[in-house]
Amino acid sequence: MQTITYTIRLFLYGIFFILFVISCSKKQPEKQFDKTNGKKVQSNKSFYNFTPIKPSSEDKVILPNGFKYDVLISYKDPINNKGDYFGNNNDHIEFLPIDGLSSGNSSNDGYLFVNHEYEEISGLKNKSEEQIKHEKYNVGVSIFRVRKENNKWKIILDDKNNRRISALTKINVDGPAKDIIGQTVIGTMDNCSGGQTSWGTVLSGEESLTYGSDRGWKDFKADHIGWMVEIDPYDASSTPVKHTAMGRFRHENAAMIVSKSGKVIVYMGEDTDNGGFYKFISKEKFIKGDRKHNMTLLSQGILYGLQVENTKNLSGKGKWIPIDINDPNSGSKLKKAGYTSQGQVLIDTHKLLETLSISKLDRPEDCEIHPLDKSIYLALTKNKLKKPKNQFGMIWRIVEDNNDHESLKCRYETFAKGGIESGFSQPDNLLFDSKGNLWVATDISSASLNKGIYKSFRNNGFFMFKTSGSDKGKAKQFLSPPKGAESTGPWFTPDEKNLFLSIQHPGEGGQKSTWPTGKIPKPSVIVIRREE
Ligand code: FEO
Ligand code: CA
Ligand code: CA
Ligand code: CA
Repeated sequence: MQTITYTIRLFLYGIFFILFVISCSKKQPEKQFDKTNGKKVQSNKSFYNFTPIKPSSEDKVILPNGFKYDVLISYKDPINNKGDYFGNNNDHIEFLPIDGLSSGNSSNDGYLFVNHEYEEISGLKNKSEEQIKHEKYNVGVSIFRVRKENNKWKIILDDKNNRRISALTKINVDGPAKDIIGQTVIGTMDNCSGGQTSWGTVLSGEESLTYGSDRGWKDFKADHIGWMVEIDPYDASSTPVKHTAMGRFRHENAAMIVSKSGKVIVYMGEDTDNGGFYKFISKEKFIKGDRKHNMTLLSQGILYGLQVENTKNLSGKGKWIPIDINDPNSGSKLKKAGYTSQGQVLIDTHKLLETLSISKLDRPEDCEIHPLDKSIYLALTKNKLKKPKNQFGMIWRIVEDNNDHESLKCRYETFAKGGIESGFSQPDNLLFDSKGNLWVATDISSASLNKGIYKSFRNNGFFMFKTSGSDKGKAKQFLSPPKGAESTGPWFTPDEKNLFLSIQHPGEGGQKSTWPTGKIPKPSVIVIRREE
C-alpha cells in the first residue's frame, strides 16, 4: 500500500514539475518592450550631443556635422521574394529586435514595421478594378527583416515574417462594436502613426474616416475604418485586430504604459482641428510574459476623453470623462442623444466631444510618455478653427494626479510653444530617447512651406528638446528633409546608435523635388548614424 502511495506521489510530483516547466517557458520576460523603464544606454557618441543645423530649403536631407544617412527602402522596392513591395508615403516606423520575444535586445537584427499612410487622390470616377486594387495595396503596413552588416543595413528578403498588410487584407474585429460591424472586415488604410505594446505587438492608427469614399471605392464602408489596429510583427500567420473598445476617430498614435495596479493605459491623439485627446484603461491586468493573455487586454476597458478648464490657457487642470453608456453621468447624456448601445457610442466617438463636454484641442497628434518621470507629452499641431487661430502649435506636458495613470484628474502645462522666436512650427511626431530628450518632427503643410508667416522655418524639420536643465524646452534642429517632405515615424535601435526615419511626400504641394534618386521623388526610410 505504502509503495502504491509513494508511486502516486512521485507521479503527481512529475506532473507538477512538467506544468511548472511549461508555465515558465510560456512566460518570457518582456522588459525590452517597456519603453518607459528608464533604461540606461551606454554610448559616449550619443545622438543628443550635436551642433544644431540651420533651417534649409534645399532639396536634400541635411544633418549635423559628424552624422550620415543611408536610404534603406523606397516606395515600390521589394520587401520579400513573393512579389510584395513597399507601399506609398511611409510614416510610423518601429524596429523590433529579432530576439525580442526571448528577452533579447538586438540592435543589429530585427523586423522593421512601417505604416503607409496615403496616396494622392487620383480621381473619383471611371477607375478600373485594377487601379482600385493598386490604390488599396499601396496603403497599410510593411513588415520586413533588416540586419546591420559592416555598419550598413540590408533587407533580408527571404524571412518568413516579411509581409504586407493593406486595404485588401482580412482583419478581425473585437470589442463592443463587433456586433454591429461584424467579426471581420477587409482592409486597414490611412495608417499614420502608432505605438508599441508592452508585449511586442504594434498598434497602427487609422487616421481617416473617409479614405475609400474620397477615392470612389464602391465597396468602402466608413464604419470599418478609423480604428486602432493591433498587429503581431513576429508572426506572419496572425490576423491583425481592430480594437473597437479604443474608439473610432482620426487615430494618430498610441502611447502605452502599465499602471501601478497593472492595468494597461493607452493615450491617443485625434488628428483634426478641434480633435480630442483620449486614454483607454483596460479592464484586465497585464501579466508579464503571458503574451497570449496580454493580447486580449485591448478588447475590454473604458475609453476616456480629456476635459480641460479652458483650452485658451497654457496650463491648468484636467479631467478624464468616460465615453461609456454604463457610466451614470455620461450614460444619461448619451441616452438622451439617442444612443442605446456602447458599440454605437464607440463608432461615433469622433462626434461626441460636445455631448460629453470633452475639450476640442488644437489638433492633437503624437503623444509619448517620458521615460523617467512618466508624464505625457502631447503635440498640438495647430488649430485654424480656434479664435484666435493657433498657427504654430505647441507641446503640452500632462501629469496625472499622484502620477497614477489610472487617475481621472490631471494637470497640464505648455512645455514648448511654436513660433518664429522659438524656431519651430507645427509639432507632430514625438519620440523620447532613454535620457529623456524629446525628438520632434514638424508638419507644416506643403502648401505653406517657405511662405508667409512660415518662411523663416524653410522646409520642415526634426528637432531635439532637452526636458530638464537650463536648455529645457529649447528647439535644436537636427535634420532638414527635402523640399515638400515631412520627416515622420522616428525610431531608435535599442542601443540608440541608429535612428530610422521616414521621409514622407517629398515634392508635395508643387515643391519640386528629385530626392532621393535625382529623378522622381520617392517616399523612403532612411537610417541615420554617427560617422565612425
Ligand atoms: Fe498622418 Fe496625423 O499625421
Ligand atoms: Ca502625423
Ligand atoms: Ca511617436
Ligand atoms: Ca500631421
